[in-house]
Amino acid sequence: MEKSVILQVRRYRPEAETEPTWQSFEVPFQRDWMVLDALNYIKDRLDGSLTYRWACRMGVCGSCGMMVNGNPVLTCATYVESLLPGPIRVEPLKGFPVIRDLVGDLTDFLAKLERVQPWIVRQDQQVPAAEHLQTPEQLAEYKQYSMCINCMLCYAACPIYELEPAFIGPAAIALAQRYNMDSRDQGAQNRMDVLSQHDGIWSCTFVGECSVVCPKNVDPAGAIQRYKVAATVDWFKSLLLPWGKR
Ligand code: FES
Repeated sequence: MEKSVILQVRRYRPEAETEPTWQSFEVPFQRDWMVLDALNYIKDRLDGSLTYRWACRMGVCGSCGMMVNGNPVLTCATYVESLLPGPIRVEPLKGFPVIRDLVGDLTDFLAKLERVQPWIVRQDQQVPAAEHLQTPEQLAEYKQYSMCINCMLCYAACPIYELEPAFIGPAAIALAQRYNMDSRDQGAQNRMDVLSQHDGIWSCTFVGECSVVCPKNVDPAGAIQRYKVAATVDWFKSLLLPWGKR
């Protein structure tokens, strides 16, 4: 069994480099270590300037997503042992501008997310007299989509997002669906107006990699296909009932 493993880490220090470079580190191998543990070892013992995001260390916060050996993964949920003998290549998530080392700029995603109104929209503005109750069946309708942790692995896996940066992307569409399926929500038409544009659902060619890499089994590809069906029905209704679509 290996006593150590080499991590090749993508570095980018904008104050010193015009282009990203690779740096190799040798870290001790420990059977229970995740890739994030190896990065923390580098930061604690070898190079305190190494920059990356993480918070929960338990697959909940979604901040530790990186490309590891070319695949988008949560580094807190990827065993070093599964990547032996190495070297293990660690890069920032594909498709996002790099701010520093392994940290991508998510501004574009956050702007797109806001466009789909990922919150409960009510058309009636009155404060309800009581809470909106839901049955377990109504909860089950959207629960799968509510598991999204905004980790961005689906964007890094999506070949369309890389080619067409205007594409609103898998997680934003899955989160739109999460609220559309919520019995308390009345914002489906607002979201449809955004997502039925060219840079919405129609940019997706159903490669399906977003659902493959999702660590929470949210199935963004399934959400996009459901949305395409709903948009098509919406379009037919607008032809047949131009006065009564809404
Ligand atoms: Fe929170 Fe990995 S550190 S998901």
